Amino acid sequence: MTEREAVLQYDSKDIRLPMVEGTEGDVGLDINRLRAETGMVTLDYGFGNTASSKSAVSYVDGSGGELRYRGYPIEQLADECSFLEVTYLLLNGELPNAEQLDEYVEGITRHTLVSEEMKRFFDAFPKGAHPMAIMSAATSALSSFYQEHHDPSDPQAVRESGKRLIAKMPTMAAMAYKKSVGQPYVYPRNDLDYSANFLHMMFAIPSERYPVDPVMAKAMDVLLILHADHSQNASTTTVRMVGSTGVNLFASIAAGINALWGPLHGGANSAVVEMLDHIHHGEGDVASAVTRAKDRNDPFRLMGFGHRVYKSYDPRARILKTFADEVLETIQPDDPLLDIAMQLEQVALEDEYFVERNLYPNVDFYSGIIFRALGFPTRMFTVLFALGRLPGWIAQWKEMTEDPTTRIGRPRQIYVGHTKRDVKPIEER
Ligand code: SDX
Repeated sequence: MTEREAVLQYDSKDIRLPMVEGTEGDVGLDINRLRAETGMVTLDYGFGNTASSKSAVSYVDGSGGELRYRGYPIEQLADECSFLEVTYLLLNGELPNAEQLDEYVEGITRHTLVSEEMKRFFDAFPKGAHPMAIMSAATSALSSFYQEHHDPSDPQAVRESGKRLIAKMPTMAAMAYKKSVGQPYVYPRNDLDYSANFLHMMFAIPSERYPVDPVMAKAMDVLLILHADHSQNASTTTVRMVGSTGVNLFASIAAGINALWGPLHGGANSAVVEMLDHIHHGEGDVASAVTRAKDRNDPFRLMGFGHRVYKSYDPRARILKTFADEVLETIQPDDPLLDIAMQLEQVALEDEYFVERNLYPNVDFYSGIIFRALGFPTRMFTVLFALGRLPGWIAQWKEMTEDPTTRIGRPRQIYVGHTKRDVKPIEER
């Protein structure tokens, strides 16, 4: 079959650009020869029109509002699988059978402890340190304990690094929280499953038993699944970019944590609850929030709304909206923030400004309300997003390191600064 191509006419020349087609209909122009043939580069602010790679990890249908991990719809994965099962899928490309899952879970469970030396690391932070600052620093620091597993070209080293990160990030997240509330660290327990163990490390105290509520553990597991991957978002692109320099997985993930922290990205889940809380406490109401969000002179955005790719309802938000209702009914009935969120959504989705711009609730709009109901402080929400996204980051990093077409990421620029000029002696400036 002849390869499809586009022809760019420039300077009375025809430049042939091969077209790359994906399995779900994505079509891209391969411009790898563009600069050699024309001396030109492309300019694409925020890379809204640029594919950085071919990928088989997750598929996002922005117009249809669908998300699939390795071909499986997230609705089915959230209903049928555990987070570690989905982690196995993302990392290996196939769902595990019972024996493979048992072996994987056992391997993760046996590595949930962090070195006792890490306690001094956490103790060194001021009490008010943001947990995302602690998590990115601790993830970088974790690399010091596994230097024999740094080589990205060694599949065994990558497997070992990925296992340590998946196993120890919840432990470190709980340590960051305990540090912030001045409580003793709680060790992981091997008799609890992944999400129950995390909730136990977060909320148990040594002076009394803390039986983990199975409803809360299941809610935590579903939340982690829904955050697990999302194609080439800002933090995943960061993990790939840093990884393309050949640095180890720990350092690449630490960079991704920092990118996720931003309020336009993973930090939005905290910003949504702060926005709803302000409305609840009378610092504005739903109508004024929508009015402010539409005012181009006001930097205020309706947090949890809008998305670079979804121009329809984010499928994760759809699941979380129903889930919020169910979980809150059990754990925290009559949470005023959920009612305010639903009112805000109703008003926005009927407003021309939002309709014209295809602005819908995204994953962060309802997730924070559920995190709050589970007892997490607002500042921990983005850490929870990072725990969920971790297997996606690792899977994308692996795909990048194993891809023979991978080169170090190094974009070009259009220089618009001064043309060449000479330094004048200081007395003449
Ligand atoms: C995540 O990429 C991913 O996949 C990310 C993520 C993942 O799983 O990894 O899905 C997770 O980060 C979700 C997004 C969380 N962020 C927020 O909720 C913050 C609020 N949303 C916006 O800041 C914004 O919608 C972005 C950042 C999400 C997307 O920004 P874009 O694609 O650059 O869109 P844009 O800023 O160019 O907006 C287009 C128009 C603009 O108006 P006009 O210039 O046409 O007049 O829509 C407006 C914007 O002003 N707009 C909003 C808005 N979002 C966009 N106006 C008010 N409130 C908003 N939330």
